[in-house]
Parts: sequence; structure tokens; C-alpha cells
Amino acid sequence: MEPKFVDKNVIEESYAAIGRMREMLGGARPRYFIETYGCQMNEHDSETLAGMLELIGYVRTDDRREADFILFNTCCIRDHAEKRTFGNVGFIKEIKAENPALITAVCGCMMQQREVAKRLAARFPFVDMIFGTNELAVFPQMLERVMNGGRVFEIKEIDGEIPEGLPIKRNEGFSTFVNIMYGCNNFCSYCIVPYVRGRERSRRPEDIVEEVKKAVNEEGFTEVTLLGQNVNSYDGGIKFPELLRLVNEVEGLKRLRFMTSHPKDLSHELVMAMAECDKVCEHIHLPVQSGSNRILKLMNRRYTREHYLDLIRDLREHVPGVEITTDIIVGFPTETEEDLEDTLSLVHEVGFSAAYSFAYSVREGTVAARMEGQIPEEVKKERLARLNRVIMESANGANDKYMGAEGEILIEGMDKRGEPMMFGKLPSLKMVYVKGDESMIGKYYKVRVTGTRFNSLAGEIIS
Ligand code: 5AD
Ligand code: SF4
Repeated sequence: MEPKFVDKNVIEESYAAIGRMREMLGGARPRYFIETYGCQMNEHDSETLAGMLELIGYVRTDDRREADFILFNTCCIRDHAEKRTFGNVGFIKEIKAENPALITAVCGCMMQQREVAKRLAARFPFVDMIFGTNELAVFPQMLERVMNGGRVFEIKEIDGEIPEGLPIKRNEGFSTFVNIMYGCNNFCSYCIVPYVRGRERSRRPEDIVEEVKKAVNEEGFTEVTLLGQNVNSYDGGIKFPELLRLVNEVEGLKRLRFMTSHPKDLSHELVMAMAECDKVCEHIHLPVQSGSNRILKLMNRRYTREHYLDLIRDLREHVPGVEITTDIIVGFPTETEEDLEDTLSLVHEVGFSAAYSFAYSVREGTVAARMEGQIPEEVKKERLARLNRVIMESANGANDKYMGAEGEILIEGMDKRGEPMMFGKLPSLKMVYVKGDESMIGKYYKVRVTGTRFNSLAGEIIS
């Protein structure tokens, strides 16, 4: 199916609104504060919103107390994300009391759930703007309405369109994200994402390559992560392995990563593209969610434990040194001790270098929320603790093979606890600590691993 793009006229009208607000501000430089919850996709949306605010004339602040515009970009993947948002929005009441001109906004996945958004609007009447995940392109028009005294509540029910041509203000650093697709079609039975992010739609390869080139050549980034809920089902006229090969050719780019991959769609072609593209890092984030075939089926994941292990074999055979990271949920409805044991044994078998673990959280409107056999909270908690212990053992055990190994790290910063040490990641995402100073930040160095630390490595610089 052809993806729908946001109408060019709408984008033009947004730029016109930006121009009008710029004029209205008459050279003033108000400050904006954005707090983002949840995944990289939200971070990326926040960067686009920041890009528009900066064009209007706003400058960023990290202190919400001195802000003239406060935005919360929300997440709803698990229950506690929601609770935190309500708490934090509540706090702005005081700031607004001190500065009545302050504009406050709440957007993102949690607001895409109309009932939750209505609840928030009723409880916090001082919030000026509430909008969902499909309104990025019309943000300037909405803000203009607020500046003219209105209140905004915009949540489109229809599936999203692709907004091309919006400005972006990337977070600082050397590594950045480029979105290649939006939405998700998988409907894993526990997950709310397909309901708040809409159906899958892929950007055009030429738009993606252009954005990567711009990030590298004009903004100085050397590491790019291609982003999508399920990059393996990218279809922008070409498939994901081809896209990876295309982006790999961008001059000046040093490292290329991608996330997230779904095991049901991870093809041998992609494994070979990873093996053959020199810039693609030896790392893959491949959420397994459970090691039990019965639970995987209930989760609607559409692969088995055996298939997952086959993928790992294929990856390890063709991409030497590849590190695997994953996501795991415990306490899914009807999960037994035996199911949990299957998950724990899978963690041992694969030897993940890192795993994000979650207790199952009931999401209203999903299939799993209606399943019988919900697991009591304290059982979930206890299982999560057991899983975390096994993950830790597995991650530490995977460190020994690095002794004496050589590789390149991108220095990210200085750890000032104890003796100051510089740190940076290998392509596999393993963190290495070396001696040095802050002039090294943002540069690449060849290192030899001389020791293992808790969850990371120690090394010396060779060149
Ligand atoms: N409960 C717990 N964890 C969840 N995730 C997604 N939905 C839920 C839920 N309802 C986890 C999955 C996913 C990660 C981003 O969040 O492991 O991969
Ligand atoms: Fe959620 Fe599954 Fe889509 Fe990931 S693949 S966003 S877990 S529905």
C-alpha cells in the first residue's frame, strides 16, 4: 500500500505560522523545556518539535522553572509511565501560578488514548495544548492558536501520515537517530503501540539517505541509528537490507546501527547485509519476550524458541563477534514456573550482552488484558528479580572473551567517579574505559582490552 504523506500545503502553512509567530515575538527569545518519556521514537518526535520551536525563536532550557513553554512528550507502554506523567504535569501548576504567560503542552502516545487525554484535560485545566502522535506537522498552527488565546485538544483517530520536510533540532552528541518508518502492524497481544502509533508506513529511501547525509555532513554526527518499531518490515519500494546497503555508502558516516528488529521478519538477507556492510555495527537488538513457545503463541509473536535460536546461530556464523541484546517480559497471563524456566534457560543459551526486563503490565484495549490467568503483582516482581539475576550472570560471562581483543571505540565522555576515566563503545555496544582527557570526546580510537569490569571492559589505546 502506498504510504500517505502529509499534504505539502499543510507543511507550507506550518512554515507560514512559524513566520507569523516569529514576527509576533518581535525578536524576543522565550525559553522552551521538553521532557520526553519512553522510547527513541518519542525522543525523535521531541527533536522535531524542538526544531520547530527554535525556528519560531525559542531557545532551549533545562530548567522548567524558567521556561515560557513546557512540553511533556508522554509514553504509555507500561502502567508506571502513565502514573509518572500525571504526577509531573501536576507539578507545573505552581510554575504556571508564578508565570501566567507560560504555555503548557502534553503530547505523545499516552495522549493518543482519547479517554486518558480527556481525563488529563479535565484534571489539569491549566494545560493549554493536548495533542496525539499524528499532529507533529500541524504543531505550529496549534501553537499559534494558543498564542492567540485558544486551548488545543487535537487527537486524530485516522492512521497517521508521514510528515516530510519538518525542521529538526537533534540532541547533542556524535550519535543520532533517523526514522525510517512509523507505526506497527504486529499487534503483539500485550502491546499498545499499534493502537497509539497506527499502521506501518515507510519513508522513501531517498528522503532517508538525504537526512543521514545532512546529519553527517552538516551537523557532524558520525554514528546513525535507523529507527522503526520493526525495521525488518520496512518497505519503501526497497526492503530493509537494500536500504542498509544504501545508507552504508554515505560518505563521512562511520557507524550504522538499526533498531528494533522483530525475530519473525529477520531475514538471512539482512544477516548478510550486516556481514557485508563495513559501517554496520556488530550488534543487534532482537527482543525475544519469552523463551516458552506456549507464551510466545499467546503473545502473538509468530515465531518459536527454536526459530529464535536458529537466527542467533545464523547471526553468529556470519557476523563475527556480534552481540545480541533483547527485551523480555515476565508474568504474562497464565505464565507458569515452567514457562519462566524456559525463559531463564534461553537467556543462558543465547548469552545476551544486555537484556531489558519488564514485568507484564496490563494495557487497556489489548488482547492480553482480557485473558484469564492474570499473574499477581508480587509473583511478577519475584520472577522479575530472578530473571534479572540470570541476565546479570549472562552479561558478565560474555565479557571474558574480550580479553586481549582489539577494536575501535567512539569516546563519549569522562567518568569522574574515582580516578577519572574516558569511556566509549565498541561497535558491539560494549563499553570500554581508557585513560585520557576530555579532548578525546567525539573521536575514534583503536584500543586493546586489558581487563573486565562489572558489565564493561578496561582497555589501553593503541592508536
Ligand atoms: N508490559 C510489559 N512490557 C511491555 N513491553 C511492551 N508492552 C509491554 C507490556 N504491556 C515491553 C516489550 C517491548 C518493550 C519496548 O517494552 O518487551 O519490547
Ligand atoms: Fe509492540 Fe509487538 Fe509492535 Fe513491538 S512489534 S511495537 S512489541 S506490537
